[in-house]
Amino acid sequence: MKPSSYTDLLALLQAKVGDMMMDFEIEAAARKAEEIIRLKHETNAVILGHNYMSPELFYTIPDFQGDSLDLCRKAATTDKDVIVFCGVRFMAETAKILSPEKTVLIPAAKAGCSLAEGITAEDVRALRRQYPGVPVVSYVNTYADVKAESDICCTSGNAAAVVESLDTDTVIFLPDEYLARNVAQETGRHIIFPSPKGGDSTVIDHQMIGWNARCEVHEKFTVEDIELTRKQYPDVMVLAHPECSPEVLNASDFAGSTNQIIQAVDASKANQYLVLTECAMGDNIAAAHPDKEMLRMCNIRCPHMNEITLDDTLKALQQTRYVVEVPEPIRQRALQSVERMIAIG
Ligand code: 13P
Ligand code: SF4
Repeated sequence: MKPSSYTDLLALLQAKVGDMMMDFEIEAAARKAEEIIRLKHETNAVILGHNYMSPELFYTIPDFQGDSLDLCRKAATTDKDVIVFCGVRFMAETAKILSPEKTVLIPAAKAGCSLAEGITAEDVRALRRQYPGVPVVSYVNTYADVKAESDICCTSGNAAAVVESLDTDTVIFLPDEYLARNVAQETGRHIIFPSPKGGDSTVIDHQMIGWNARCEVHEKFTVEDIELTRKQYPDVMVLAHPECSPEVLNASDFAGSTNQIIQAVDASKANQYLVLTECAMGDNIAAAHPDKEMLRMCNIRCPHMNEITLDDTLKALQQTRYVVEVPEPIRQRALQSVERMIAIG
């Protein structure tokens, strides 16, 4: 049973983050978490927490923690009336797409994503006009109207499998330039990036057509960061999210979704780990593995994920805010893309 009383939450936080936070911060977090859990039961809500949530939230209030794909599945199967999504807007929207009869809340109105904001539905329609008949794979880090214009979604955990599931030589893969390059490398495809002014629509021997959006967090990691870390810690295991550049992935020991990174650290016997993704996840892994040394680059944070706090989650439940809505015609089309992805796994 998950702890729900102040005393048990305090004990849990002391055990997990006692060496990362001060006593008065832990006490305040335990008080807020207790009230959130009480309100969660009162409102018949489920709380989903992405792996990037900071530890005092990640370890206390979510019923389920996970990566984008995992949380999509949980959103699709919950029997609760309310889904509180501790993650960013595109994730909460995906929950609404899958569970339209539920009230979906996101604790911070501004929790966006540079990838989701890097492409519009009209951009997808223009690409379809330029490359007629070519299927569109959209990363789940997109808004509902872009998903509605797509054939299938993918996450970082299943992108290559989704591309390979399509019975076609050529795919349009949106919007993350680096994820597209990494999938092209993994699946042995050529990749091109169409010019913004349009251009040759007959280029069909190139097999993968990308887009130029990037994650504002993962684009900051460099090969030099890895080299300098290896110089100081020669035995370090370097794990990178596939939103990092192909050069960074090639210099790393492991690449995968946030869940896959967590599982790789769980399974490894290395003494030190450098996790090239949002720093809070490094804190969460460190809290789970006091015996393992996590090296983190905490100057690189996701400003959107960091918007989600215990305070705002409490207000979300107290004030039923911020309600996530997706217009029904868009939702129905987006649902097909998301369900096709979930069917692949
Ligand atoms: P995951 O799907 O691996 O959880 O990643 C989501 C994300 O936004 C990474 O920046
Ligand atoms: Fe978006 Fe990057 Fe933040 Fe993930 S880490 S939510 S991709 S901005």
